[in-house]
Amino acid sequence: MHSKDQISHDAYQQTADWLLSQTKLRPQVAIICGSGLGMLADALKCQEVFPYSDIPGFPQSTVHGHAGRLVFGELKGKTCVCMQGRFHMYEGHSLCKTTFPVRVFKLLGVETVIVTNAAGSLADSFHAGDIMIIKDHVNFPGLSGLSPLSGANDDKFGPRFPPMSSVYDRELRRLVLDIAKQMGVAHFLHEGVYAMVGGPNFETVAEARLLHRLGVDAVGMSTAPEVLVASHCGLRVFGLSLITNKVVKSYDDSQSVKHDSVLEVAALRSHTLLQLISELVSRMDENNNTHT
Ligand SMILES: *[C@@H]1O[C@H](CO)[C@@H](O)[C@H](O)[C@H]1NC(C)=O
Repeated sequence: MHSKDQISHDAYQQTADWLLSQTKLRPQVAIICGSGLGMLADALKCQEVFPYSDIPGFPQSTVHGHAGRLVFGELKGKTCVCMQGRFHMYEGHSLCKTTFPVRVFKLLGVETVIVTNAAGSLADSFHAGDIMIIKDHVNFPGLSGLSPLSGANDDKFGPRFPPMSSVYDRELRRLVLDIAKQMGVAHFLHEGVYAMVGGPNFETVAEARLLHRLGVDAVGMSTAPEVLVASHCGLRVFGLSLITNKVVKSYDDSQSVKHDSVLEVAALRSHTLLQLISELVSRMDENNNTHT
């Protein structure tokens, strides 16, 4: 990124201060809703809603299926803020803009970020409608130098060279696996590796085969930049992918993926996803002596 794309600490602070002046709610958890998963925000009680266009400094979302508002409210007794509609690199936003809300969340006092996305699967054992707990990611734009953390480092947020070897919190992953077992939905829950590609096109067959060979289980066009920025500033991260389709890996396969079918599968599994996330929010940090 060029320095002209960089956002000053003051700009994040101004947006955070504005939000803090508009609501008395002080969220501990932020939830980023992926394509078709905006209903996660609808589950919040005692909502206070801010359309992105009303929030000073906030980018605007342009994708169908992404509403474009911040929803504050209570979920299972914990105060949360949901991003209903996220920003993608393929919309033409700089990565700093794409990840702008994450640093604002940090300044609001958020401790945990839950990221969700719709993804295509490469793993042969995954099916449309399955849910994947993100264990790790491959950030293709990042590997080639497109990072929201490039440019001068803001030491107030985190270190110049942040480690990325244990980004997705192990205990929260274990907790969600337990919750899924108790709910009887463990048969369509997997753990796996998510890869971010730039988009907006879906993958060619050769690209899908490449990703599969590299050990990628699911692929999508978001999440990695937000997770990078969240981890950099010390937020705890948990991520879920909703598998909306199998990525075509054979030239003989005539099916191709459509954005509308992505939204259909999301609607089908939304209830389960919501239950998993509410239970996670409710039970995280319960009797946890290591957490301060
Ligand atoms: C317990 O606290 C640690 C350290 O803050 C944290 O990483 C982990 O996610 C917590 N576990 C649960 C289940 O909340």
